[in-house]
Amino acid sequence: MKGIILAGGKGTRLFPLTKSINKHLLPVGREPMIYNPIKQLISADIKDILIITSREDMGDIVNLLGSGKDFSCNFTYKVQEKPKGIADALLLAEDFASGELITVILGDNILTKSIKPFVEKFKKQNEGAKVLLKEVKSPHHFGIASFNNKKLSNIKEKPTQPQSNYAVTGIYMYDCNVFDIIRDTPIGPKGEYEITCINNFYIDKDKLTYDILDCDWTDAGTIKSYRLANNMLYRINNKIIDGDYDENSI
Ligand code: DAU
Repeated sequence: MKGIILAGGKGTRLFPLTKSINKHLLPVGREPMIYNPIKQLISADIKDILIITSREDMGDIVNLLGSGKDFSCNFTYKVQEKPKGIADALLLAEDFASGELITVILGDNILTKSIKPFVEKFKKQNEGAKVLLKEVKSPHHFGIASFNNKKLSNIKEKPTQPQSNYAVTGIYMYDCNVFDIIRDTPIGPKGEYEITCINNFYIDKDKLTYDILDCDWTDAGTIKSYRLANNMLYRINNKIIDGDYDENSI
């Protein structure tokens, strides 16, 4: 299993905070935002990690993270020349993945408990894809799941009339077919290659499973959610929790 963190994009919803700093380098709690997805992958025993970011931000990212020695893992880096979407960035990971299963985390996704149990389940599944869901209060901000008898039947990106309150978080697991699927997927209405199209492809082939997160989760892409992410991680000292936790012990 290999790990991929997507840390490109422009972060416009956080302007002016992100005008001259990559969003994933902003502090969340006591550490830069990107530390949380890195620690998530390491907590799931994934030590080979590709980080994808823009040309302008690559220098700062490498400066912060280096070879991976400080985290006891190995970092590889790739440049996404233009922010043409999450699926477009992921396509750059094909050589790195070299046929293995992958876990992908959007660099602005923050959660408090380890994803290890879900990664272990996906290793057993050994094909197709898995997404992690979380119940949210404002479903029109996310990719939202629809269900048919508890089976995930469709995902709609930022729907005006959401069919549920379950957001598809930015933590995705795929087999190596994902790259062919991305190549065969047309560009979306907003001029980006959407990850939701890729996940719907796996649903149509009956190859997508899901689990529901039982810990705090947010993305940190807007001022409001960035503030929430800060509170979440500050409260637990930026530690990823392996199992259930008692707040008094932190
Ligand atoms: O956070 C969960 C949500 O993330 C999902 O519910 C949505 O289905 C999914 O589309 C995504 O929505 P966002 O609107 O939050 O995506 P955004 O464009 O903000 O990109 C999220 C991260 O992906 C960002 O932190 C960096 C990375 N990214 C994004 C783009 C557009 C790239 O690396 N390259 C890109 O071109």
